[in-house]
Amino acid sequence: MQITMKTTPTSPEERERILTSPGFGLHRTDHVLQIDYRGDAGWGEAVIKPYGSLSLDPATMGLHYGQLIFEGLKAFVQSDGSVSLFRPAENARRLNESARRLSMPTLDEELFVEAARALVEVELDWVPTGPGQSLYLRPFMFASEAHIGLRVATEYSFLILATPVDPFFSAEVRALSVWIDRDHVRAVRGGTGSVKCAGNYAASMQGKQLANEQGCDEVLWLDAIDRRWIEELGGMNVCFVYGSGDEARLVTPPLDGSILAGITRASLLELGRSRGLTVEEEPIAIDVLFTAMATGEVTEAFACGTATVVAPIGTILCDGVSREISATRPGPVTMGLRAELLAIQTGTSPAFPEWRTRV
Ligand code: PLP
Ligand code: COI
Repeated sequence: MQITMKTTPTSPEERERILTSPGFGLHRTDHVLQIDYRGDAGWGEAVIKPYGSLSLDPATMGLHYGQLIFEGLKAFVQSDGSVSLFRPAENARRLNESARRLSMPTLDEELFVEAARALVEVELDWVPTGPGQSLYLRPFMFASEAHIGLRVATEYSFLILATPVDPFFSAEVRALSVWIDRDHVRAVRGGTGSVKCAGNYAASMQGKQLANEQGCDEVLWLDAIDRRWIEELGGMNVCFVYGSGDEARLVTPPLDGSILAGITRASLLELGRSRGLTVEEEPIAIDVLFTAMATGEVTEAFACGTATVVAPIGTILCDGVSREISATRPGPVTMGLRAELLAIQTGTSPAFPEWRTRV
């Protein structure tokens, strides 16, 4: 790996100021990693270089035809002061699933993990240490060939940038409000909903705007065919808790081809099971959910994802009617899972050591 350090990096004082309250995605670190691909030569050497603008031909295919995929993963300071990545091999695997779906070249999964680790090693001073904070890595790959004809590109760039972050919504846990968009769909089975490509997010922007105009944080997307089955949020999976105490059940929609297989979702399901919680991956119809909410059977709901971690959902707005999920927010199952996941990510819990990759 070729590493060129920035000659005038951010000053320690400025970095400390940023790290005190980084927000989400507002600040980038001093370096970026890049690997380029050419159809005739394959992947080239990984380069870590000073962070800066990319120079792109206006005919860059990724800008026109959307061969553009990305990932999101976090590096956490551990209780012993070291830094670990959370499940980077899962991101490597998912990036390749996305690549295959969009006819893009796959990247060696060990190289992906090595690249993420190398960038964090260069940016160790940028890993924030406050509660819930982390260094968020954004690996992405796009078609970099300049060509206007519609075909699969032959040249690609893979990059990883790093940004110190607080949790996506806020450092404090607050309940989200979600809106059911009856008019638009985010993804359809057979489409690209189950992979992480930029087009999915473009398709969800208008719904998110409409949700925000109505005072809601996010859209809770329904399936594209029956417009009845709950799928996920624009950038998070969704889980519901039915019942409470020993009777509590964690229920989330199954991965049926249009939902992204979240690494946080998978981790929480595994964590829940290991704690004796009943975990179900079952289709959830919105009308049936509303009935279960009315009878008090649904006790909690939350969104989960790398950026978000776990965020309780307090209200669902649908057809002009706002429904509350639970009187006691945030609920104990949601907050328990959130605390345990963060403890595993930061190494204060010894559980699931294989989920941490030391930098
Ligand atoms: N669903 C969508 C559409 C997402 O963009 C994300 C975020 O990456 C998730 C779910 C959660 O996935 P993960 O937990 O792997 O971050
Ligand atoms: C993530 O959680 O990593 C995401 O990619 C969600 C969002 C910021 C797009």
